[in-house]
Amino acid sequence: MALATLHWKTDETLAVGKGATVQQFVASLGGDKLEIDVAPWGEGHLRINGREIAHVDGVKDRRQAFRAIKEIAERYVETHMLKSEKKTASIALPAVKAKLLEGKKGLIVGIANESSIAWGCAKAFRAFGAEVAVTYLNDKAKKFVEPLARALEAPIFMPLDVNTPGQMEAVFERISKEWGKLDFAVHSIAFSPKDTLRGRVVDVPREGFATTMDVSCWTFIRMAHLAEPLMRKGGTLFTMSYYGSQMVVKNYNIMGVAKAALECAVRYIAAELGPKGIRVHAISPGPLATRAASGIPEFDALLDKAKAKAPARSLVSIDDVGVATAFLAHDAARLITGETLYVDGGYHIID
Ligand SMILES: NC(=O)c1ccc[n+]([C@@H]2O[C@H](COP(=O)([O-])OP(=O)(O)OC[C@H]3O[C@@H](n4cnc5c(N)ncnc54)[C@H](O)[C@@H]3O)[C@@H](O)[C@H]2O)c1
Repeated sequence: MALATLHWKTDETLAVGKGATVQQFVASLGGDKLEIDVAPWGEGHLRINGREIAHVDGVKDRRQAFRAIKEIAERYVETHMLKSEKKTASIALPAVKAKLLEGKKGLIVGIANESSIAWGCAKAFRAFGAEVAVTYLNDKAKKFVEPLARALEAPIFMPLDVNTPGQMEAVFERISKEWGKLDFAVHSIAFSPKDTLRGRVVDVPREGFATTMDVSCWTFIRMAHLAEPLMRKGGTLFTMSYYGSQMVVKNYNIMGVAKAALECAVRYIAAELGPKGIRVHAISPGPLATRAASGIPEFDALLDKAKAKAPARSLVSIDDVGVATAFLAHDAARLITGETLYVDGGYHIID
């Protein structure tokens, strides 16, 4: 955010000029309102959206107070993204000079909103020049996904609830008709009924187990099945896993079992489709605060632990995950397959 984007105006409702006791200035940035007031005795305040952010006292006069507070406001805007900024920044695609995936076409399943891992992947693929087809869960989800699909210039935008028979087939039929080929597909969905996910693995009911495995694992196998005939010149299939597949992670429970099956499916499918030039990977990101993650109790503790323990001492972002995924779709990665790639700041190597 450049400093010059803040245009301060005096607040017409207050007395201004030399005689005024307190002078107020306002600036707006998207939907955010910034206010400065300064007094002749050298005191000043900065409020953003009504909340006091900074205060200066004891400077020479009103002019100096204004200069000091203005600088604080500009620095604040530079380092903290405000509400409105966050919105536009997260919808914007990263600027990438080299269109390394130009000519490639892929399907992205699992965008719920701008926090979704699938959205991080879609942004990266598109930024590298690929075209993407996007699906949304249902009408309720559509209004959140539509602006993102528009930002991606997705030529195919279709509903896909994997529990609705025929919807996945319809997506692949459309891709076949429109593109006649597919270079990559990202499966970034998982689901477990709340009572199944929150209970002990040893108590899991048959129905909850079946639903968890069906949505979180079998649908990837099905996607691979439908993608195979469209990947005549090879391609790359991706799914999202998590470290809880390998280690017992508190509260991950039955989803850990499903992710273990998913990673195993990745290896079998990689072996089966490898001779056709189709590569298959699981991406295993560190914890990210997404809608799906909100179903896991004490998720904040998981985030704190990840940050403290990871060699990188950092949480990952959906953009980190997206770029790593996009790299594996590049022809340069043609001899890498069957992998579970951790994008977790190195967390998984530490005891
Ligand atoms: N958030 C994390 O910390 C984390 C870490 C590692 C792996 N993952 C995995 O990443 C993937 C994406 O999750 P996310 O964290 O981006 O959350 P998210 O809530 O943004 O995405 C989950 C997606 O699953 C979709 N989904 C659920 N049921 C579906 C159904 N019946 N049909 C079609 N789509 C359905 C939702 O619509 C949503 O788009 C999941 O597989 C998740 O297990 C998440």
